[in-house]
Amino acid sequence: MDINAGDRPLGAEVRGLDLSRGIDDGTFAALKALFDRNGMIYLRGQSLAPEQLVAFTARFGKPDRHVRQEFALPGHPEIHLISNVKENERSIGSAYAGDDWHTDLCFMQHPARYTFLHAIEVPMKDGRVLGDTHFASTAHAYDALDAETRGWLDRQRGVFQYHRAQERKRAQRAKDHARPPLTAAQKAATPDLSHDAVITHPETGRRCIYVNRTYTFSFEGLSEEDSAPLLRRLHEHVTREEAVYVHRWQAGDLVMWDNYSTQHMAVGDYALPLRRLMHRTAICGTEAFGAKLLPQS
Ligand code: SIN
Repeated sequence: MDINAGDRPLGAEVRGLDLSRGIDDGTFAALKALFDRNGMIYLRGQSLAPEQLVAFTARFGKPDRHVRQEFALPGHPEIHLISNVKENERSIGSAYAGDDWHTDLCFMQHPARYTFLHAIEVPMKDGRVLGDTHFASTAHAYDALDAETRGWLDRQRGVFQYHRAQERKRAQRAKDHARPPLTAAQKAATPDLSHDAVITHPETGRRCIYVNRTYTFSFEGLSEEDSAPLLRRLHEHVTREEAVYVHRWQAGDLVMWDNYSTQHMAVGDYALPLRRLMHRTAICGTEAFGAKLLPQS
């Protein structure tokens, strides 16, 4: 295993491993330690059948079954399809998922720990790859705040609302990728809640900013109007250019990120007939980060 760490706070490339052949426990432990330290790592040139992707994911914890099972790969409830590809006029996956800054499943009472994204098809135009994904380290961002802001943020809680974010997404994509509204059961599984605005990473002990632009609608106890400029300043700080790693995809990439210490955003600069198809798995988190249910909107 050979590591190319790059010059950003996250985004190391791991070379020399073929995950389809399996890796021994020692190599796995080294990979996991690098992952926990770095927050986002990637391997190129992988070719993982769905069951191999799920088996690799399961070495990190319990694989999640996404609440939107309509976007699961048939026969593989742990694999969530992220794709603009359509069959019978219907998107086969979650189209343009994550096209603003967020951490995955942060709106759950136990948010997702790790996410794995395996590129099956990547859009290209005039020799250039489209659909990059940007990553930022929320641990690095917390460390770079001034002491007064850190002290204030440590005392805040963020309000997370999945169904509002989904309604916004449905409205944005109503014309080209209509997605069904959440069912009553999906809504019941994703209630409005608040989490600590800063969380402590269980492995590294680092403090990480946990509010994001997609799912955090306000700070608890503050109106949305009063929260908006504070959230905007934080988002600008987390995602400032010099702290961001931009991943330019190749088919066969396996990108892995730690949702406790990073945020990401997928760029939606492609459209059919250019196809993008990703197989995504995630690990259920075990931390609640002070989750508290709110009156439902
Ligand atoms: C996601 O936010 O999980 C999807 C990222 C991507 O499609 O690049």
